Amino acid sequence: MKKLLLSNAAEVVTFMGETAKKGSEMSKPLVIKNGCVLINGETIEAVFPISEISRFDTANAEIIDCTGKTVTSGFIDCHTHFIFGGYREEEFNDRLNGMSYMEIMRRGGGIVNTVSKTRAASIDELFFEGKKRLKQYLEYGVTTIEGKSGYGLDIDTELKQLSVMDKLNNAQPVEIIQTYMGAHATPKEFDSADRYIDFIIEKVLPQIKEKTKAEFCDVFCEKNVFDVAQSVKLLTAAKKMGFGLKMHAEEIVPLGGSGVACEMGAVSVEHLLHIDETNIDKLSKSGTIGVLLPATAFSLKEPYAPARKMIDNGCAVAVASDLNPGSCYTQSIPLIIALSCMYMNMTIEETLCALTLNAACAINRGGNIGSLEKGKQADVVIHGVPSIKFLSYNFCVNHAQTVIKKGQIVLNKI
Ligand code: NIG
Ligand code: FE
Repeated sequence: MKKLLLSNAAEVVTFMGETAKKGSEMSKPLVIKNGCVLINGETIEAVFPISEISRFDTANAEIIDCTGKTVTSGFIDCHTHFIFGGYREEEFNDRLNGMSYMEIMRRGGGIVNTVSKTRAASIDELFFEGKKRLKQYLEYGVTTIEGKSGYGLDIDTELKQLSVMDKLNNAQPVEIIQTYMGAHATPKEFDSADRYIDFIIEKVLPQIKEKTKAEFCDVFCEKNVFDVAQSVKLLTAAKKMGFGLKMHAEEIVPLGGSGVACEMGAVSVEHLLHIDETNIDKLSKSGTIGVLLPATAFSLKEPYAPARKMIDNGCAVAVASDLNPGSCYTQSIPLIIALSCMYMNMTIEETLCALTLNAACAINRGGNIGSLEKGKQADVVIHGVPSIKFLSYNFCVNHAQTVIKKGQIVLNKI
């Protein structure tokens, strides 16, 4: 098996283990000065300071000199809507001119606007645009993303979105974990959200289970979208069918869905801009991860999720992009790091945890990715800076220089 040695990094920084870090554990990474990562085939063989190199068989390894650089686990974007047809740049302008996201939605824009364009798009068009977005992700050091359907709403288009993700998974290096999110909006063919939820449960979920690789079922629990009772009905059915559960909650109006999702054993609750103390408490006592999306708050000019309060109260927090054509059209990891540190008051260590191990756990992959340790998949980023502190200090700049996915160098800018 071919070996690769990342040698003498100024810092190798990683969280350890297979489960999400909660509260103060999020600020305690392992930092190895003059660190090395030895990769054997697709897997990490060892992580150690260069002073211990004689203990390892590196004789035939290809060497990458990491002097003066920082090595971390590949970033994981655990919440995206990256497959969609068309764009909504006019709506973005309307928002700049003062119209709210919900007003645009009431006027017939918003998610249903993208639904029409996604239904009309061919597989090739969705594939081509999706591939460009993934290439940009890779540039930022992202090695795995979650992708949600939810811009088809009818069976055929939901299946089309998921099949495009499957095709892309085999066509480029960024690994894609699929989520079915038919409960993103009620399509115009249905006169009530209740009837649409019943349709999903009876007609769509069985097909998603049989024909796709979707692992999770997500729902937009929001005023005028799906209420808590409708969301619970759907997630209860999805759980019985073996899907992992996710919920968009407390994004615009706090309905309290997040606490209920935690009690149902959801893998993650996401957005949480308006989460209150009762639900923070429920989240902290659960095994659920709070996925925060600061670029969406930035784009909607809404207040940021109370990350500091959540972490101080013992929650496990991940951060992600929420890339989508409406509320947040960006996949900029440097922006997300900057917003996490400067507006959500997270430290860079907590932010790293939120983008690696906790993000891996938010897609049920903590056993395989998210940290640099023996036996995990070799997904690694070499950053052209001497410590992780520079990722927040030299903000909004992309520092990812070399990206390794499953032991292969898939991007090298030096
Ligand atoms: O996560 N909140 C729901 N869904 C997306 C927005 C989708 C859209 O506007 O197209 C979000 O913000
Ligand atoms: Fe989202």
